[in-house]
Amino acid sequence: MSFELTVQSFPAPDGPVHYAAIPWDSDLYGFPFYELKCQDTPHASLAQHLPTWLAELPAGCPCLIYSKITPGAVPLAQVLAGSGFYPVETLMEFHLHLARLSTIIHRKSHSARLRLAKPADQASVTAIAASAFAADRYHLDPHLPADKADQRFIQWISRSFASREPIFVLEDTPCGQVLGFVQCRETAPKTMDVTLGAVNKDIQQTGAGVLMYQLLFIEFQSRGYREAITRVSLHNIGGIKLTLRLGFTVRSAVTTLHWFRPAGG
Ligand SMILES: CC(C)(COP(=O)(O)OP(=O)(O)OC[C@H]1O[C@@H](n2cnc3c(N)ncnc32)[C@H](O)[C@@H]1OP(=O)(O)O)[C@@H](O)C(=O)NCCC(=O)NCCS
Repeated sequence: MSFELTVQSFPAPDGPVHYAAIPWDSDLYGFPFYELKCQDTPHASLAQHLPTWLAELPAGCPCLIYSKITPGAVPLAQVLAGSGFYPVETLMEFHLHLARLSTIIHRKSHSARLRLAKPADQASVTAIAASAFAADRYHLDPHLPADKADQRFIQWISRSFASREPIFVLEDTPCGQVLGFVQCRETAPKTMDVTLGAVNKDIQQTGAGVLMYQLLFIEFQSRGYREAITRVSLHNIGGIKLTLRLGFTVRSAVTTLHWFRPAGG
């Protein structure tokens, strides 16, 4: 499935409401998902056309629309809220000059190491990803079934293994068990973007998360990388504390609002 979106305008052909169907989420949930792209739309134009666009969406099935705005875009948020959108999640983007990494664990671990995942690790990584996440907007929105939200992460891991995107695992060296995983990619020269990571639920709060992320950033420092970015949900206090502890600072934030209409609603 292609991850390219086709942006359309309402009223066609060049009205001010810009939206795109989201095929992968529509497929997973079995009803249409759309992204409303309104960050650059004047709020008066949005207020004029949004109710008509919403009224014209197919009514025979449920429908979910999401829209991402900066938290400071209050007039835009007011227009969206006036049409039934509700805030679901705020993602903070964090940034670190890798030279300023704060190392927390100073003794070398003899019981755990970070290594690149092998195809044989897919089942262990999938098992961790299937149960670790709870603070993303798909889990937070009560209109969306939690098992499908877990499924999204399972599909994410499956695509990453299929396309051989690098995933690192934290391995318990005595028994070879995978304790956690973290995925990152280069988004600009010498800049790493940490896109997804988690440790096994059973060993959270024991220092495994700190160790895994610290080892990852040390590894990328030694590869000559200079910057790291990552995004953490405001609802994930553990993740935020960990990110700040490693020396990251906040760069920006994005709030996602949802609009949901049940079938026939
Ligand atoms: C976020 C996440 C990776 C953190 O991993 P973790 O293993 O639970 O975190 P740690 O144990 O290293 O640190 C958590 C707490 O334990 C404390 N701790 C660290 N080492 C410890 C040790 N040896 N013994 C006891 N406590 C310890 C830390 O000080 C920290 O305290 P805090 O509650 O004040 O923040 C993990 O909770 C997770 O997988 N969450 C779900 C997925 C997710 O949110 N991913 C995004 C991450 S940014």
